[in-house]
Amino acid sequence: MLGASAALSTPVRVGLVGAGRIGTSHATLLARHVPGAELVAVADPRPGAAEGLAAELGCRSLSDPAALFADPRVEAVVITASSTAHADLIVAAAAARKAVFCEKPMGLTVDEIDRAVAAAAAAGVPLQVGFNRRFSADFAGAHRLVVDGAVGTPQLMRSLTRDPGLADPGGVPPWTIFLQTLIHDFDTLLWLNPGAEPCTVYATADALVAPTYRDAGLLDTAVVVITFDNGAIAVAEASFSAAYGYDVRGEVFGSHGMVAMGDGARSSLVHSTSAGRHIETVRGDVELFRDAYIAEFVEFTDAVREKRPPAVTGQDARRALVLALASIESVRAGAPVPVEKVDPR
Ligand SMILES: NC(=O)c1ccc[n+]([C@@H]2O[C@H](COP(=O)([O-])OP(=O)(O)OC[C@H]3O[C@@H](n4cnc5c(N)ncnc54)[C@H](O)[C@@H]3O)[C@@H](O)[C@H]2O)c1
Repeated sequence: MLGASAALSTPVRVGLVGAGRIGTSHATLLARHVPGAELVAVADPRPGAAEGLAAELGCRSLSDPAALFADPRVEAVVITASSTAHADLIVAAAAARKAVFCEKPMGLTVDEIDRAVAAAAAAGVPLQVGFNRRFSADFAGAHRLVVDGAVGTPQLMRSLTRDPGLADPGGVPPWTIFLQTLIHDFDTLLWLNPGAEPCTVYATADALVAPTYRDAGLLDTAVVVITFDNGAIAVAEASFSAAYGYDVRGEVFGSHGMVAMGDGARSSLVHSTSAGRHIETVRGDVELFRDAYIAEFVEFTDAVREKRPPAVTGQDARRALVLALASIESVRAGAPVPVEKVDPR
């Protein structure tokens, strides 16, 4: 009995790959705020990136992810590298028999995701994708109510993301709004309509924030309408520049009522003066989703310790990516597209 509880309280030794913006935040959370994790190494080929972070957090720094995968102390890997590297890194980590958490999007094509999922399955290791909204208290509560039938059959659904600003429009690849941003909203809508399959996608997008980049393919404003086989009609929308901060919201309106998530408020503080009432808004993802990121790592380390599949899998990554690819196809066609006809490449 003592042995079992000691095993349960032994932290999972984690190595993080990709010491960029979100990697820095995730590494800090893993090292300091996830009791079930011990951060033992950070790897990034960018000169200085891993060293600085590792020195701050007191772990090993490496420039080559292969050396991290070869480290027998590392039991599980958290991949926060650029999206183009995700599939190859998952395959390499799985080949080294490491459990894998990978940030979204897990791959930029369905073939990449299938390759990653197959590698994890062949190695028998858990593979979790970073759809953090599922771990946010309000979205998780909404999901429970939907599953319990308290909202009835979903009829109208909404999920939106408004990012706080485009720092460098020139550095943003085309279709980022669908592949990197709205991918969160697609997962949210699929998850909040359990058992239903998407039928059609109609997307429209424009460059309203940085019009001079339109010709280079940077679209910064988008709306996507998704129809489901249970009749539900969903809207996902995104902008890369909300003047007031970082804004993520959702709604499920069903035959028995409605749930609404997200208010963009930093806290419940309201400052009332002769000018009116003022609330402070959230300024970024690492602020809004701090608790959700911690909760998704608790789920990941629990899944590793309990040797079970995590709550959010490679198949979830695949379903959301199919909607992103369908959106791109719809913008190109200027018309709705059937989801089953999406070209997986
Ligand atoms: N879930 C979320 O809320 C959330 C938020 C932000 C970013 N992300 C995702 O996290 C990923 C990283 O985003 P970011 O904003 O931190 O990007 P970033 O550009 O700031 O950092 C990426 C880092 O990956 C490193 N890298 C590139 N190729 C690598 C490789 N082969 N091996 C190891 N390291 C490599 C780069 O050197 C860089 O340091 C993206 O996939 C992004 O979509 C998720």
